[in-house]
Amino acid sequence: MTSAADKPVVLAAAKLSPLYQPQIEAAFAFHGPLDLDDPAFAALAPRVRAVAGSGDSRVSAELIAALPALELISIMGVGYDGVDVAAAKARGVVVTHTPGVLNDDVADLALGLMLSAARQLPAADRYVRGGLWLQGNMPLARKMSGARLGLLGMGRIGQAIARRAAAFDMSIAYHTRNPRPELSYTYHASAVALAAASDFLVVITPGGAGTRHLVNAEVLKALGPKGFLVNVARGSVVDEAALIAALEAGTIAGAGLDVFEDEPRVPQRLLDLHKVVLTPHIGSATAATRQAMADLAFANLAEHFAGRRPKTPVPECS
Ligand code: NAP
Ligand code: 8YV
Repeated sequence: MTSAADKPVVLAAAKLSPLYQPQIEAAFAFHGPLDLDDPAFAALAPRVRAVAGSGDSRVSAELIAALPALELISIMGVGYDGVDVAAAKARGVVVTHTPGVLNDDVADLALGLMLSAARQLPAADRYVRGGLWLQGNMPLARKMSGARLGLLGMGRIGQAIARRAAAFDMSIAYHTRNPRPELSYTYHASAVALAAASDFLVVITPGGAGTRHLVNAEVLKALGPKGFLVNVARGSVVDEAALIAALEAGTIAGAGLDVFEDEPRVPQRLLDLHKVVLTPHIGSATAATRQAMADLAFANLAEHFAGRRPKTPVPECS
């Protein structure tokens, strides 16, 4: 029988989901997050064999370097832009994530934000509650069915959004670095060209340096005064200052945002804009999906420490 002292030590990179942490606690020697300059970190570091985190956790090169026995970083989330994968790979540390199991929820939320922004659903709710209906009808909104959808990103979640949008009779176009000829959607060679051909521009790329401010002032100008921006990817992909300026100036029509540049802080100027619908990074936040993500993140740890290949390494570690 394995004694507690023999169990692999797993360190949390940040506060973990209550669906993930208890699974780790039951199988391994779990430690909550520690600052690198905490004496308790120095005592624990030589024994840490895995780091567990969520999609927004930061696992820096400095942390990786400070953990000499580290073998695995298991992220509960599909996005792993907070992990220094190059530093992990250089040390032979495998990084895993939870792709696929959250596609439906994130795609559902994208459609929800598109409808909410175009049909002004939060404003309509406030209109009824505030008694304004008694004084007259709301201004007319923008029709979504039949409009042109542009997807910046056409991976697992992008394709799930496209399938849903097809049921709204939307025409579908996309931009990615690599065209996907096997898909029947229209490809545009740049984000600007895609925005110019879209009524709704939905951002669903990974975050990180490669996509930073991909949606900039030029892209927003191309989207135009009747265009809506929806971001369910990462806050870093959109130049938030340029977005606020475009919304204030009316050079785009509105936005639906689930992610922000400095979460959970949202700029006051965005909060003041009624043509923006805001959600607190809830793309995958249903009970069923978070359970599936926690189970997969735990399975990656369990497989690794059972001497098998983890189920879902990130592409760089495959
Ligand atoms: P995926 O299958 O890897 O798809 C990513 C897509 O982005 C691919 O089509 C990729 O195509 C494209 N892409 C990457 N870099 C690009 C660039 N520089 N320019 C244009 N396109 C680029 O990932 P996924 O599973 O769909 O997830 C996408 C992202 O959604 C995650 O990484 C995460 O950040 C975000 N997310 C957010 C939530 C939320 O709660 N809001 C939840 C889950 C996921 P190419 O490689 O050909 O460029
Ligand atoms: C959550 C996400 O923020 O999967 C991702 O990339 O952004 C989300 O699902 C999160 O990672 C939950 O742990």
